[in-house]
Amino acid sequence: MEKDFNINRSQPVIEILDLRKSFGSNHVLQGFDLNVFAGENVAVMGKSGSGKSVLIKCIIGLLPIDKGRLVVLGESVPDLDHHKLDVLRADVGFQFQGSALYDSMTVRENLEFPLRRHRDKLSGIPVDDLVLESLENVGLAHAINMMPSELSGGMKKRVALARTLIMRPKIILYDEPTSGLDPVTGKEISMLINEIQQRFNTAAIIITHDLGCAKVTSNRMVILHEGKNYAEGTYEEISHLNDKSVKAFFI
Ligand SMILES: Nc1ncnc2c1ncn2[C@@H]1O[C@H](COP(=O)(O)OP(=O)(O)O)[C@@H](O)[C@H]1O
Ligand SMILES: [Mg+2]
Repeated sequence: MEKDFNINRSQPVIEILDLRKSFGSNHVLQGFDLNVFAGENVAVMGKSGSGKSVLIKCIIGLLPIDKGRLVVLGESVPDLDHHKLDVLRADVGFQFQGSALYDSMTVRENLEFPLRRHRDKLSGIPVDDLVLESLENVGLAHAINMMPSELSGGMKKRVALARTLIMRPKIILYDEPTSGLDPVTGKEISMLINEIQQRFNTAAIIITHDLGCAKVTSNRMVILHEGKNYAEGTYEEISHLNDKSVKAFFI
């Protein structure tokens, strides 16, 4: 596949081995394994409540893990202190479920927000340039002074993506990037995720319910089921598996 051209399979940027995470008696991740390689887009599909959001919150250290190996960009996440975790987060963009823009701030102010927090990383570049560059990357330079309430659902997702891109991350974690969008707008966002991968050679985990999104964006797909990496392969391979729990996604 032409899309696989820039993937470096000798260099995992996320290494997850036997990851376990419970909340009381709710055993959410029960030995989850996954490697994501430099430049690779991996889609993770799973039923509602299967632990997809928990997984990506563990990856960026928002939730402590119970057990397992979790290495991101060469750093063992459970061993990082607060400061080192903050430095890592400047390289790992996290796209929340929903767009999570600040309603009382303009688009520009929303984009400036992460820069203030991680100013060390891109200190040589004027803030205005970074804001404009990231908006251009999502095709929304004209919206710089708008308020979130003036934006459509698709535009909000684009601005949220610009806010992630502004830090020039090496990895992007997308949590349900197309949820709540109509099919056409959802497809546009999926194409944009692809464009970002090609243009910046970022690696990504794309959590999604949307088969179309998984098909368009992923080099590889993983089914998260019963807390484990239940099945893994290209979209084509997964779609032909003869397994009840996997087939349920393709109806
Ligand atoms: N902070 C939390 N405290 C307790 N339980 C949680 C917490 N976050 C998630 N859970 C539980 O973990 C399970 C997986 O949640 P989640 O990862 O959000 O599912 P999804 O796959 O839909 O994203 C659910 O049963 C949820 O109730
Ligand atoms: Mg979720």
